[in-house]
Amino acid sequence: ATRDPAGRPLAGRTMLVTSGPTHEPIDPVRYIANRSSGKQGHAIARAAAAAGAAVTLVSGPVTLPDPPGVSVVHVESAREMLAAVEAALPVDVAVFAAAVADWRVASAGDQKIKKGAAGAPQLALVENPDILATVSKRTAGRPPLVVGFAAETQNVVTNAREKLARKGCDWIVANDVSADSGIAGGVMGGDSNSVHVVTADGVDSWPAQSKEEVARALVARIAAALKERT
Ligand code: CTP
Ligand code: CA
Repeated sequence: ATRDPAGRPLAGRTMLVTSGPTHEPIDPVRYIANRSSGKQGHAIARAAAAAGAAVTLVSGPVTLPDPPGVSVVHVESAREMLAAVEAALPVDVAVFAAAVADWRVASAGDQKIKKGAAGAPQLALVENPDILATVSKRTAGRPPLVVGFAAETQNVVTNAREKLARKGCDWIVANDVSADSGIAGGVMGGDSNSVHVVTADGVDSWPAQSKEEVARALVARIAAALKERT
């Protein structure tokens, strides 16, 4: 593809995006999950494709259609998401917008757990792999630009700075998902988002805008950053 900085600033670039929740099985009919519509991650994949990038979208279970012009890999669990992400490398930029379940059931059963005299099951949980941290800390094949998300209900920027350091990514896009975020109906499942872009250089707080607008602004910022690094 030829570079057209005006309309297609990501022409010739490759991008990986994760989106949606993960489902962690308890048994064949039940699961643990995070709340996530996938709207923000899918919008980023769409905006990046419109900007000319070759995009791989690794999506957990969502009700959204696959964005046209994007290579979509469907997964269920965090471990499947990690494997799909690693298979998609190398890329120029990776954006981790998925709401990955932090824990899974230690030994998910092959058979449906039945109610009975034994009472409620005691589910032992184990921590899932941290996909963002795993990719950020790779020595070989680390994407030149790694962007994480953080959904916070309090101390949004402080928690985001702490996450940036702990995960080893380049940027954290932090959003306030508290009920008093100022966004009518809330961020979760809604169409609007109010984000702070936290980097080593400082914090950019963007006004509340649609998830589409956040996606386009983020893609523009990514294109500018990649251009700066050649
Ligand atoms: N993330 C990930 N793999 C996980 C957990 C989180 O890749 N197992 C990514 C998310 O996609 C997001 C970022 O890490 O880009 C931050 O997720 P978040 O849930 O806010 O951070 P955690 O480290 O899980 O911290 P906590 O949930 O305790 O706030
Ligand atoms: Ca988490």
